[in-house]
Amino acid sequence: MKILQTSNYEEMSRKAANILAAQVTLFPQSVLGLATGATPLGIYRELLRRYKTGELDFSGVRSVNLDEYCGLSAGDPNSYREYMRKNLFSHINIRPENVHIPDGMAADAQAECRRYDELISALGGIDLQLLGLGMTGHIGFNEPNDSFDRHTHKVRLSERTIAANARQFRSIDEVPRTAFTMGIGAIMQAKRILLVVSGRHKAAILKEALFGPVTPRVPASILQFHPDVTVVADEEALSLSAGLWNGQKGEGL
Ligand code: F6R
Repeated sequence: MKILQTSNYEEMSRKAANILAAQVTLFPQSVLGLATGATPLGIYRELLRRYKTGELDFSGVRSVNLDEYCGLSAGDPNSYREYMRKNLFSHINIRPENVHIPDGMAADAQAECRRYDELISALGGIDLQLLGLGMTGHIGFNEPNDSFDRHTHKVRLSERTIAANARQFRSIDEVPRTAFTMGIGAIMQAKRILLVVSGRHKAAILKEALFGPVTPRVPASILQFHPDVTVVADEEALSLSAGLWNGQKGEGL
């Protein structure tokens, strides 16, 4: 695991965007696993800026998103499909048919989960998976549990996650209680993983994820077993991890 410490959120966003940009430049047909939430917004801004200057071409890229709320239609302003459209896809030349997100309105949840896993397999798996870190230690919406869920599944969101995500909604009551999420299996099979973390409020859970025991109680801890993980995190997020790693600052990226 490589840990790159940055001085702030903007630098984290730029360095993480460098990694994604290098992937797309070297492998224009890449399958990118994408995340939503507050953390990747700066990365997406940076990627679309580079697209506009002609540095990046997404015409061959395929994307699979980690998760989607159940019960929100594609056009709902709070759906993750809409988030991706608004913050990235509508600004770049990725082909609509190459964009994949679980269908939050699927009537048959089991069939939707199966379809999503088969789709990821048919794409040949994920080349680079972008991940944020939830306050519960979740990746995607894989919440703390007694075991790791291998496959895409419908999950009941924890109260902590509902509270954390309420900021995007008018009231906490509007936050969906369930979501579809890619399983730990597809995430761990990604060839490369890029975990981005920002802010002091994530410092304790980041320390547990990177340096604590590997346990489904802290789902992100499984990343310790992945052979190619890069963590790009700012000083605040790494503030409780000082001394636990060999202090690479990520210069040159
Ligand atoms: C979003 C996702 C989540 C978020 C996590 C952190 O697609 O999969 O795991 O990455 O909840 O969210 P933020 O970045 O809002 O703190």
